[in-house]
Amino acid sequence: MHKLTVAVIFGGVSSEHEVSLASAKSVIENIPKDQYEVVMLGITKHGEWLRYSGSVDALPGGAWESDAANRPAVISPDAKTHGILETGPDGCQAVVYLDAVFPVLHGANGEDGTMQGLLTLSGIPFVGCSTAASAVCMDKALTKTMLGAAGVAQAKWDCFLRRDFERDPDAILSRLEKGLGFPIFVKPASAGSSVGIGRAAGREALAADIRAAAKFDKKIVCEEAVRGMEIECAVLGNDDPVVSVCGEIVPCNEFYDYEAKYVSSGSQLHIPAPIPAQKADEVRAAAAKAFRLLGCSGMARVDFFVREDGAVLLNEPNTIPGFTSISMYPKLFEASGVPYGELLSRLIRLATERKPH
Ligand SMILES: Nc1ncnc2c1ncn2[C@@H]1O[C@H](COP(=O)(O)OP(=O)(O)O)[C@@H](O)[C@H]1O
Ligand SMILES: [Mg+2]
Repeated sequence: MHKLTVAVIFGGVSSEHEVSLASAKSVIENIPKDQYEVVMLGITKHGEWLRYSGSVDALPGGAWESDAANRPAVISPDAKTHGILETGPDGCQAVVYLDAVFPVLHGANGEDGTMQGLLTLSGIPFVGCSTAASAVCMDKALTKTMLGAAGVAQAKWDCFLRRDFERDPDAILSRLEKGLGFPIFVKPASAGSSVGIGRAAGREALAADIRAAAKFDKKIVCEEAVRGMEIECAVLGNDDPVVSVCGEIVPCNEFYDYEAKYVSSGSQLHIPAPIPAQKADEVRAAAAKAFRLLGCSGMARVDFFVREDGAVLLNEPNTIPGFTSISMYPKLFEASGVPYGELLSRLIRLATERKPH
């Protein structure tokens, strides 16, 4: 059988560089090698692109970066190249033809439409959402505006610029206190993996959390705190997406912060989520609706709160969800009858089937 050559791009300049390395290791290990030839393309935290050909075990921890066999290599925006331009030790340039690209990148310059824009120019099919959907889903304020306009239920929220806060912090603090009520969640509009997120119980803490979030983004989103369960589901497909069973996250900290996600092993995932079947169907329908509404394709993990009174509130979509073997997205599909390797094949197939227009 003719194998398709797929480049897995990992690393990147975002605050989620390390998460990407862990996800990519898992993706590369699980891609069915009888169907695909994998080319590894790493991006350092400084934005340097390198073709890596060593062991995937050197991805987490970053040792891959200093491998002597690394070659400077970039995706060419020239659709005729349809692949990678690689510089050999002699300085000569070689072309590596690609059938598809799987960007396993989280956050800025990977999940936010920038990489998707380059891949669109290159003409190479790529896994996951288009440029526009990626850009909308990366920005929590844009996502909430679009979902709100279509009547999708969400927590009460507000948004402002760092500059507005610096000019008149008291006005913003009073507006948030009045409009949302404590406790208040504070988030950089375009981060991920809970980087820069705080939960403030009072005015002073709110001001401190806003300053902390403002280090990551010039736009800040604040939300009322929802009391209830965190429920996620995974979506796969282009025009007629399928939705997995629901899973529940039970964070080991006060909320699902970076430590609870990646450092501590105390958080629990319950698959399927312990909620009534009817409630699970309501969540799944809302996930499919959001996927379509936001123009997603390929994949997304859509995260919800099921509030104590039963209300289903959408928290956020993730267009490149975590992909480690213990991550929710592959786990949810495994529980829905799609093993990890087959999931990856389906994602690559969806990439090649997607029509650009
Ligand atoms: N409005 C909210 N009410 C209650 N908990 C929240 C709220 N917003 C966020 N959280 C908690 O913070 C975590 C991270 O927030 P989230 O918006 O998902 O950011 P990220 O994009 O970084 O994953 C959530 O998983 C949840 O535990
Ligand atoms: Mg989240």
